[in-house]
Amino acid sequence: MKKYCIILSLSFFGFACGSNSSSTAETKEATKTVASVTDNPDYEKGLNLVAKSGCFTCHKLREASIGPAYGLVAAKYENNQENQEMLAAKVIAGGKGVWGQIPMIPHPKLSKEDAIAMVKYVLLLKEETK
Ligand code: HEC
Repeated sequence: MKKYCIILSLSFFGFACGSNSSSTAETKEATKTVASVTDNPDYEKGLNLVAKSGCFTCHKLREASIGPAYGLVAAKYENNQENQEMLAAKVIAGGKGVWGQIPMIPHPKLSKEDAIAMVKYVLLLKEETK
């Protein structure tokens, strides 16, 4: 009986180690993809502006809040200049009807340059999920 227990606990150990090493690999993989996004200079600049402009009051990264999750916005629009300008104009003027009936309030005090920097950050967020 004692012997059986030892074998059992040994094999359990082996199993635990096995799963540990695979989760380390997953963590490494995740860090790698996140790093490629955060290395982009648009990321930090946009994130700082979004954080200080109160955008996170209505937007979360991955879950719907009052506004759509930024990950979904990023998945919907290709990250090109045309979309950056179109979305930046909406952030400044406000928008409604694309994601539901709740409108986004206008942000008239933002400069176009800052709004574009924020949209560039938002549109980068899809790359984390790749
Ligand atoms: C009062 C809540 C609120 C705040 C504050 C807010 N948003 Fe929004 N946002 C929304 C809602 C609601 C929508 C969806 C509008 C729609 O359906 O067209 C939205 C949509 C968006 C979209 C997608 C627009 C589209 O047409 O697909 C972007 C990009 C965006 N917001 C960025 C921002 C940024 C950047 C800020 C900070 C300056 C911000 N939002 C602040 C509520 C908000």
